[in-house]
Amino acid sequence: MAPIRVAILTVSDTAFADATADRSGPVIQDIITSHHGEVESDKHYRIVPDTVEAIQSVVKEWADNGNVDWIITTGGTGFGVRDATPEAITPLLNRPAPGLVHLLLSASLQHTPLAALSRPVAGVIKSTLITTLPGSVKAVKENMDALMRGGVVQHAVELLR
Ligand code: MTE
Repeated sequence: MAPIRVAILTVSDTAFADATADRSGPVIQDIITSHHGEVESDKHYRIVPDTVEAIQSVVKEWADNGNVDWIITTGGTGFGVRDATPEAITPLLNRPAPGLVHLLLSASLQHTPLAALSRPVAGVIKSTLITTLPGSVKAVKENMDALMRGGVVQHAVELLR
């Protein structure tokens, strides 16, 4: 199968002000590369502040272009007053994927009860898969492991191509 073409969106007021503060975006990029996926260009790694408008604008651009298989967001899924990722992504989904949400939560709850405070959403926008991960490096590694294990995302992307 051709490499999975991934776009990574870090959602964080802090990282938007100082890109060097983004820890989770680069970790996702490393994991993708180690699984023979690719982040095609700099355009496919962006950082936005925690606002619905900023998040939606980048995600819509990527999904409209049709050259990204999988959009991964990191950050803004929790209960903080500024956390807006689920509210931004949910209205954009053409087809929600509750099974992926279940997978992320059940895998994460094996690691920490605090995973109950993550509000992940997942689904398909046009022909692009999207999943929303928490912001911490630890959470990102655990969630990516759940998504890659058993070829779950690989199979989803094959079905969407
Ligand atoms: N999921 C996993 N797998 N591992 C974790 O350590 N941390 C949780 C949760 N999900 C965690 C996790 C915590 S502490 C929070 S507050 C929520 O994700 C939301 O994180 P976010 O607001 O950075 O998106």
